[in-house]
Amino acid sequence: MTQLMINGKAYDVDVEDDMPLLWVIRDVIGFTGTKFGCGMGLCGACSIHIDGNVARSCITPVAAAKGKNITTIEGLGTPDNPHPVQQAWAESDVPQCGYCQSGQIMAAASLLKENPKPNEDDIKNGMTNYCRCGTYLQIHAAVKKASDLIGDES
Ligand code: FES
Ligand code: FES
Repeated sequence: MTQLMINGKAYDVDVEDDMPLLWVIRDVIGFTGTKFGCGMGLCGACSIHIDGNVARSCITPVAAAKGKNITTIEGLGTPDNPHPVQQAWAESDVPQCGYCQSGQIMAAASLLKENPKPNEDDIKNGMTNYCRCGTYLQIHAAVKKASDLIGDES
């Protein structure tokens, strides 16, 4: 048995140590907000936070997450109390098909934690997740808006 701490709650799972964390999160535990895209660490659809840092869960073995705090999109905010990135995403109407968006939001939240006032280049270089619908302009605008919201809160 492996114990994982996800969104503030402990889960005991009976899986191999080298199973990708993405499979455990989605298929064993049932947090399906985290998506499978490439399975090779390239697209970012599977982005989560491990101890507050963004990680691509499709290439993270479950053993690497033992004893750490894992956050998925389900644990980032709530409808009543959204994370500033979620609020900015909604206000900016970012998603098209939506498939990549939870990964984008997790990446943006991590970027803004590291750098609450990113400039255009910081956003371009920091937001490396793919979006097949091409919502990059809206994503960049929403990161800026989230940065403003965070600034207003502090
Ligand atoms: S599914 Fe993990 S990076 Fe693409
Ligand atoms: S919104 Fe469709 S892939 Fe990004």
